[in-house]
Amino acid sequence: MNILITGGAGFIGSHVVRLLVNKYPHYNIVNLDKLTYAGNLANLADVENAPNYTFVRADICDYDTILAILQQYHIDGIIHLAAESHVDRSIRDPFAFARTNVMGTLSMLQAARTYWESLPERYEGKRFYHISTDEVYGALEFDGTFFTEDTRYNPHSPYSASKASSDHFVRAYHDTYGMPTIVTNCSNNYGAYQFPEKLIPLFINNIRNRRPLPVYGKGENVRDWLFVEDHARAIDTIFHSGRVAETYNIGGFNEWRNIDLIKLLIATVDRLLGNPEGHSIDLITYVTDRPGHDLRYAIDSTKLKNELGWQPSLQFEEGLERTVAWYLNNQEWLDNVTSGEYMQYYDQMYNNSNTSNPQ
Ligand code: NAD
Ligand code: TYD
Repeated sequence: MNILITGGAGFIGSHVVRLLVNKYPHYNIVNLDKLTYAGNLANLADVENAPNYTFVRADICDYDTILAILQQYHIDGIIHLAAESHVDRSIRDPFAFARTNVMGTLSMLQAARTYWESLPERYEGKRFYHISTDEVYGALEFDGTFFTEDTRYNPHSPYSASKASSDHFVRAYHDTYGMPTIVTNCSNNYGAYQFPEKLIPLFINNIRNRRPLPVYGKGENVRDWLFVEDHARAIDTIFHSGRVAETYNIGGFNEWRNIDLIKLLIATVDRLLGNPEGHSIDLITYVTDRPGHDLRYAIDSTKLKNELGWQPSLQFEEGLERTVAWYLNNQEWLDNVTSGEYMQYYDQMYNNSNTSNPQ
């Protein structure tokens, strides 16, 4: 199979690329990424020379280029992760989210349709797998309910509104053109290589540097946290065995109030740094709440477990400890992405060219 992964230089995408490159030496894995501030090829340094791996720098909004790439690499399957992904940025710049998440997904779909419909076998053996978020479902109360695959869409942030819109386009391409699509909606991920604007890596970095930890509102919001490698495993399983036109929710059954998670994080970082217990607790700083801040997310992933046998592999405390240890052992990575130096490097390296094969 020839598989195109979009957004493969980002947080989740890099784990998906690594998993598939290592697990399927007989597949060709093409990683298509624009390398925005969130994309970093250092996330894939360990697989960049693999014979079954190719990197292409391109923008998912650029229909002509995407079509040419699909044709050039004879792509059978697309795993679409490229997106603007941070809620706070979407509040500041909603147009960027509509452009990438809505128009970018639409141009991916249309390019796939044009290419696959031009082949004698058309959609036979093809698959367009769209990675989405639980945030499209809106917010839950503290009432023990969960988001299921049948929960009505009710997005509140420009980020979740743009993802909801892209999900609708994906389903429309199945219903209208017969494209074999799958959508999955996943809860909050954590693990190595996450850009330090998101809660967990931001706070690890701030604790390390004795900077304040900005807790939005009262810290009472609840998120359902999933180890990123478990998400990558779910994506592999669903890509290969999921039923076309279905939706699968992916989650950890692992709800944490932000303030409880932050206290566990502080204790873990202090312990691994050899600080006395409670050393960094004074860094907690309550700040003005995020506008439209969703109260609670919680995913019911029973369908995925029953149909495909997937379930999370790690206890949160263990996953968090591994994650903290990774960031503390990879301070150069953290310093690089926070300094923005890697962006200048890419701009020079890929100047006047949007395609590169590291071979
Ligand atoms: P990320 O921000 O770390 O990475 C996004 C990647 O997409 C980056 O490599 C970036 O360079 C690339 N990209 C952005 N715009 C592009 C464009 N126009 N063309 C080509 N590439 C572009 O994001 P992430 O956290 O890894 O999330 C990946 C996907 O998973 C997103 O679709 C997101 O909505 C979804 N998701 C994320 C989470 C989470 O907790 N992070 C949870 C559920 C779903
Ligand atoms: P985040 O990692 O941005 O993920 P999402 O908003 O997609 O769930 O935030 C996780 C939770 O942490 C969310 O409830 C907002 C909160 N938060 C803070 O309290 N302070 C921060 O600085 C950040 C980035 C997030």
